[in-house]
Amino acid sequence: MSRIFINYRRQDSEGYVGRLYDHLAQHFQRDDIFMDVDSIKPGADFVSKLEEAVAACDVDDTGARRLDQWNDFVRIEIATALKQNKLVIPVLVGQARMPLPTDLPEDLIPFARRNAIELSHQRFAYDIDKLIGVIKETVSSHARKPGTDSDTVRRKEGLLKAVRDDLVNATSSPLYQVRIDNRAFPVLGEGNADAHILFIGEAPGKNEAEQGKPFCGPSGEVLEEMLRGISLKREDVYVTNILLDRPPEKRDPTPEELAFYTPFVDRIVDIIQPAVIATLGRFAMQYMIKKLDLPEKKSTISQIHGKLIKTRLPYGEIHVVPLYHPAVVLYSASQKETLRKDFEKLKLFI
Ligand code: URA
Repeated sequence: MSRIFINYRRQDSEGYVGRLYDHLAQHFQRDDIFMDVDSIKPGADFVSKLEEAVAACDVDDTGARRLDQWNDFVRIEIATALKQNKLVIPVLVGQARMPLPTDLPEDLIPFARRNAIELSHQRFAYDIDKLIGVIKETVSSHARKPGTDSDTVRRKEGLLKAVRDDLVNATSSPLYQVRIDNRAFPVLGEGNADAHILFIGEAPGKNEAEQGKPFCGPSGEVLEEMLRGISLKREDVYVTNILLDRPPEKRDPTPEELAFYTPFVDRIVDIIQPAVIATLGRFAMQYMIKKLDLPEKKSTISQIHGKLIKTRLPYGEIHVVPLYHPAVVLYSASQKETLRKDFEKLKLFI
């Protein structure tokens, strides 16, 4: 059963919250609605208690804004709900307006992207019906991960399989003979065919070419750790590379190889239609920036890693997010924190 956490500040919104609670209680089990810090025992660690309470809930109704103190319980609750990927519905009462992302501390920025609903005393019955309708609808759809529309997923998987077949039979590839000589596999990609986030790395390494799967060696372990850090699993995203066969001796992709494989990558993008293309390393970054004719053409990865670059593809608006290649962490452990922080940006799209 889904749980609802009402996050509010007593002095700002108590008049509304009691009425909200009573109405919610007519539609949901009272035990599934958590609304008050009074139930936390004196002396208990309230940060961990609030985190536990948020963790147990699926929907967070938010009544007012208080931003700047790290230990403000309203802030802790919202930040925790966002961190745990809970569904957060801002409920505006009185004259409240949604804050701009620039007004918010970093851990609350994703809050500004949530669609708000207004609750007024004059139209309370109407507004509350609307809110309850949204909660019921979104609670059931929130349980669905991207890609659980099974017809779409099946259709996209079929299209990706056709790309894979073309890749397997691509005898004119500059790396075809290397593949045959090494009894290696081409590596199209792996993951959710209807993913919101598409990762594009550099090229399969030895492990990947032996197994026909992307990122299944040490770089893959780093990638998985980063995904775990933002509560994602490999199955939630799609992972591919800018080259789809392993180049010999760990060398950089050649222009000829890039020219041959990138049309396959374009087909993967067209099929999956992700909201975000996260490039891993400079080769994938340079390709996407050039293809999309982005102003960052002269930028290096150290200048634009972690940046959210908004642009369009024929199917709609997307963001390109350049990230360092996970292998940086294998060479320089201090880069882990940078990569982790950049991955946090992807939470805006989850
Ligand atoms: N490095 C990449 O860029 N891709 C892989 O699949 C593995 C390692």
